[in-house]
Amino acid sequence: MLAAERWRYLKALKGSPQTNGYSKVGSKATGSNSYSGHVNPQWVRLLDLLQMNVSYTRCVGTELYTSEGNCILDFLSGYCVHNLGHNHPKIIAALHDELDNCGPAMLQSHVADLAGELGEKLCNLAGGSLKKAYFCSSGSEGIETVIKFARAHTGRSGLLYCSGAFHGLTCGALSLMADSSWAQGFGPLLPDSVPVPFNDLNELEKKLATRKFAAFIAEPIQSENGIRVPSANYLQEAQSLCRRYGSLFVLDEVQTGMYRTGKFLAAQHYGLDPDMVVLAKALSGGLVPCGAVLMTDAIYRSVYSSLSRAIIHTSTYSENGLAMRAGLAALQACQEEDAGQRAETMGAQLRQTLREALAGYEMVSEVRGAGMLNGIEFQAPKKLKLKVPFTAFHTVHAGMFGQMVVMRLFREHSILTQMCGNNFMVLKVAPPLIVKEQHLERFAEAIRDVVEGIHSSTAFWRDALRLAQRAINI
Ligand SMILES: Cc1ncc(COP(=O)(O)O)c(C=O)c1O
Repeated sequence: MLAAERWRYLKALKGSPQTNGYSKVGSKATGSNSYSGHVNPQWVRLLDLLQMNVSYTRCVGTELYTSEGNCILDFLSGYCVHNLGHNHPKIIAALHDELDNCGPAMLQSHVADLAGELGEKLCNLAGGSLKKAYFCSSGSEGIETVIKFARAHTGRSGLLYCSGAFHGLTCGALSLMADSSWAQGFGPLLPDSVPVPFNDLNELEKKLATRKFAAFIAEPIQSENGIRVPSANYLQEAQSLCRRYGSLFVLDEVQTGMYRTGKFLAAQHYGLDPDMVVLAKALSGGLVPCGAVLMTDAIYRSVYSSLSRAIIHTSTYSENGLAMRAGLAALQACQEEDAGQRAETMGAQLRQTLREALAGYEMVSEVRGAGMLNGIEFQAPKKLKLKVPFTAFHTVHAGMFGQMVVMRLFREHSILTQMCGNNFMVLKVAPPLIVKEQHLERFAEAIRDVVEGIHSSTAFWRDALRLAQRAINI
């Protein structure tokens, strides 16, 4: 579309009667002055712009209660943190218990028994060659760990990663996303880190064959890049190639792990035996920061190779008692509630319901995923009636269309979602694994209503114009 045409369209929309499309969730900028003044005012501005700055007072399971008395369904789960829902009573009880015990929470001069217990359970659940656990406090820290350990083990410096990946925002993790906007302005990052296209074995082999790479690091299913599920043999073949050329095969299961896709690790769907796996997010039930790197004995020995290197890689809060207790309680709750099986069965049901509900809408191209990690992919429309407004708003900002979908779900249907961070055309559908069937039905009806609105009424596009205006004026 020509620029002049685009602006004619935007002006025409601006002149049309205004309707208050939003009804249910009131916009209430709780944004305390202290947060704006001393933490991150841009975040407050963004939430205000999106009319999603709501004060949450109580979060239980899939339900988020606001100070205005609304109940919002969480279909984002804090980006796959709340696999067991918010504030699971058994994790809270375990934490209370741990605090009441007044045990050696941060002694740093003792053997942390709880870390041993959690490490053993994680390695047993992961299976294969994963025998040792290193604990940390976030996914990014886990990624830093695998970078260091892969280099120490192989003596090589190169790092292969997949384009579009999300591995975290520390400098090492950003080096595995150096081709993305997340990395802009923070360089120079680690040298010798090289992207390959996800799901492309030829390109991977070409790079691995140089024998310069310590590791190939990948998410088994790319979450922020649009819930990209690889072809059936990709990861198996990638693992074999890594073995052939002496590179470590490392999986980032920060979002996909802890039963999110149905099995404890997504790797288990593909019969993989990775050299290292990174876990975080849901590991401690969403209440205490916690991450873990599971690795082979051989990798462990390369790093902690002598007494003088007993604490060569560690971090102050890494094995802290609260995180370890929360991790043990989260694993137990996942097993008691059969979270994996639920995710697998109900996730398949959800995808089927969504496919049926959204069939025939030209802007919906695919519903895909595994377990409770799902995405609805939108595409640019072909019919002129939709093409004109879509192109206009897409040109203003590539993320605007998606944010309108998210805002409509939030404000009209009281459902919290987000678009994928590296693919603004894919809506992430990732409720807690314990989500109730009626909540899934409510979501399917809500997204169908929003998608129907996109295709049949001008209100959606008029609201998009208002969003564009607010973005410009703010
Ligand atoms: C796949 C993946 N890896 C790593 C990270 C980084 O985790 P953290 O935010 O805990 O540092 C994230 C965060 O969203 C992630 O999605």
